[in-house]
Amino acid sequence: MDRRAFLTAATAGLLASPAWAAPASAAPSRTLRSDPFTLGVASGDPSADGFVLWTRLAVEPLSGDGRGGMPSRDVEVDWQVAADERFTTVVRSGTATARARDAHSVHVELGGLEPGRDYFYRFRSEGRLSPAGRTRTTPTGGTTPLTFAVAACAHYEHGYYTAYRRLAEQEPDLVVFLGDYMYEYGPSGYTALAGRVRTHTPGKCRTLADYRLRHAQYKSDHDLQRAHATAPWLVAFDDHEIENNWAGSTSSTGAADFAGRRAQAFRAYYENMPLRRGSLQGAVLRVNRRVSWGTLARFHLLDTRQFRDDQACLDGVRAGCDERLADGRTLLGAGQWRWLEDGLRGSTARWNLLGQQIMVAQRDYKIGPGREVNLDSWDGYAAERGRLLDALARTPNPVVLTGDAHMHHLAELKRDFDDPDAPVVARELVASSIASDGDGYRDRTWIAEALQENPHFSYIDQRRGYLMGRLTQDELSVDFRTLDYISRRGAQARTSHRLTIPAGEDAAAASRAAAAAAPPARPVS
Ligand SMILES: [Fe+2]
Repeated sequence: MDRRAFLTAATAGLLASPAWAAPASAAPSRTLRSDPFTLGVASGDPSADGFVLWTRLAVEPLSGDGRGGMPSRDVEVDWQVAADERFTTVVRSGTATARARDAHSVHVELGGLEPGRDYFYRFRSEGRLSPAGRTRTTPTGGTTPLTFAVAACAHYEHGYYTAYRRLAEQEPDLVVFLGDYMYEYGPSGYTALAGRVRTHTPGKCRTLADYRLRHAQYKSDHDLQRAHATAPWLVAFDDHEIENNWAGSTSSTGAADFAGRRAQAFRAYYENMPLRRGSLQGAVLRVNRRVSWGTLARFHLLDTRQFRDDQACLDGVRAGCDERLADGRTLLGAGQWRWLEDGLRGSTARWNLLGQQIMVAQRDYKIGPGREVNLDSWDGYAAERGRLLDALARTPNPVVLTGDAHMHHLAELKRDFDDPDAPVVARELVASSIASDGDGYRDRTWIAEALQENPHFSYIDQRRGYLMGRLTQDELSVDFRTLDYISRRGAQARTSHRLTIPAGEDAAAASRAAAAAAPPARPVS
């Protein structure tokens, strides 16, 4: 069976039955009333010897109390990891407890496996078998190419998840998800131009039950399940997993007890994602982390929400906000900033991929004279952006991966965006949305004007999609994948733009060379 046939079969649950010996007590002493694996299976955070396996039991995913129709007792879940898709060579197995207090989720962290190869996994609980998933350990060297997808922003009401399906069909080694995995709004709380194709669970998310239920609704989607069953994911949240444009401990809507709401949303996010168990630390959810792909690449995942200062000038897209330039403002927070700077400085990887949520490049949204910038993005934290660009300029082959914008963008990052001759420090690749804002469109006049306004951008596309990167020692090749519609099922994905970045076009080297060659500062005349 080839990999595609495996995936088709796996998501249909067809591979889950052979070769799993009956439990010691031939029949389970208790049984769930129906299939508890309605939310699929997932894996994440691969290392050279393991990964995290995830599932969450829910016999009735849309049960209003967010408990998935599960009993109030804890439930045992067996798991298996095999070297082959038919599970004839099971290499590891065990039993985890899906606790009622964790919404019957399990997070199994594995080590001791072989580097650089596919593994297959599945779960069993009280006589019921899960679909199988494929995952992968990272290689140890630097010669194995890496194929990775980048995705963000999947508003469930705005369209079908065809982009997830097309992404899965490309069988990447890794999926990097950069935020807005789910949206907190109630039905039609945020509408796309073309309206909605399906409806959120009732009400805006406020309580733990609300967030759990909303995650269950999203996870019930078979295209999303297929994308999870295909490859390990690296996930990081942005704002909508909690609330639109929140900042640190500040609610953008004046929500009462925002600290409590945030903690509940974090908890539900953790319960529904293939994150390591240590990531949930009380009221803090720690998602900034590094994952290495041998010596070829290092992913530095950032959290640009939890530790940031409030947006300047009351947020929004505005002109004339001096506060955004203030030196002391932070987006990452002091601790994460030190962690990032240390990690970039100490990186021995050939490529350094910064996975983060919001646009780093300066972006003028006003066509014509004057400048309006999005104060929720790095434009609202310009001094720290300058320090980030300084750090990237000292880093081998840096590339920034971004979500949030609901349009593909390709930008050159520079210390001075207004100087056409300023050296390029890194490329920024912004993935459009999986579904948010519904059917895309392509307004060529507006795009031409936006590119003219922002000459460090070379590509903008308003259609839905994702990025597919292929990384080797020599180059990063990136396909911007787009779909023509998502209001109906079945759209194909095509490559609407392709970029190849040769290694050692090395912005760091170029920058050092430019500094060495630069004439002395011009006298002010
Ligand atoms: Fe979004």
